[in-house]
Amino acid sequence: MSEWDTIRLEQEDGVATLTVDRPDRLNALNVETLEAIEEALDEAADDDASALVLTGAGDDAFVAGADISYMQDLSTPEAQAYAELGHRVADELEQFPAPVIAAINGYAFGGGCELALACDLRVASEDAVIGQTEIDLGIIPGWGGTQRLPRLVGDEIARRLVFFGERIDAQDAFEHGLVGEVVAGDQLDDHVAQLADDLAGKPTYALAAAKEALNQAHETSQEAGLRYERRLWSGLFGTHDQREGMEAFLEDRAPEFE
Ligand code: COA
Repeated sequence: MSEWDTIRLEQEDGVATLTVDRPDRLNALNVETLEAIEEALDEAADDDASALVLTGAGDDAFVAGADISYMQDLSTPEAQAYAELGHRVADELEQFPAPVIAAINGYAFGGGCELALACDLRVASEDAVIGQTEIDLGIIPGWGGTQRLPRLVGDEIARRLVFFGERIDAQDAFEHGLVGEVVAGDQLDDHVAQLADDLAGKPTYALAAAKEALNQAHETSQEAGLRYERRLWSGLFGTHDQREGMEAFLEDRAPEFE
């Protein structure tokens, strides 16, 4: 397995866990870390991970954002390259061929919030604090926040979060629909591991197709999305898991998926 200095990738029973590991910088994302995440996502996809968990090392932070010491003196072309790298990582999470769960174990600010937004599901510990805080640095969200946040929480809440740069607690994030669940801090890892295991036990191709179809809901007209859904749906017929799932139902037994 490849080794990186700023992240860890562990794979067990079809579940990949990618941990951003710069606790002394509260897991802020510099270029090296973003590039390592890209490589790790490729590796997990090549190894056919059935679910992926994204989290941060230590007790304090998921990811405290883009690396402010790196950004401070960037020129516009350099900032553009950094934004493109951040966008690439977020897109790769969004398009990862299996569900991705953000286990938000602490601060998720700026680019950290944006990576969580690119995941399929977000589970926060009750002491997590989340925000698109860029405005107070004199910038705006640059890794997808202006686009993914309103789709998730609605336009008014997104504007409030981005304009005021407010840091909200996990319960408020849940009430806004920004996270799907809040759990006690000491239960976060186990709870997310259980969710990931449950997903890994589902039919892999069907889950990948479900993710792809759901992603289209934000990308296209409803008519084109429905066409897309029909194509993906029919494409699953003849797969082992479709035959097995339906046969098992008709024989009143548990299915054995590939
Ligand atoms: N980029 C670079 N370094 C960061 C960072 C970031 N986004 N967030 C935290 N750090 C560094 C701090 O500079 C500090 O470094 P030091 O030990 O060399 O002084 C170290 O991580 C610990 O952070 P510190 O601020 O001392 O911890 P704290 O517990 O007092 O506060 C936060 C934690 C998260 C509230 C605070 O660090 C913060 O507001 N960070 C910036 C968040 C932000 O705006 N992110 C969006 C960027 S797009």
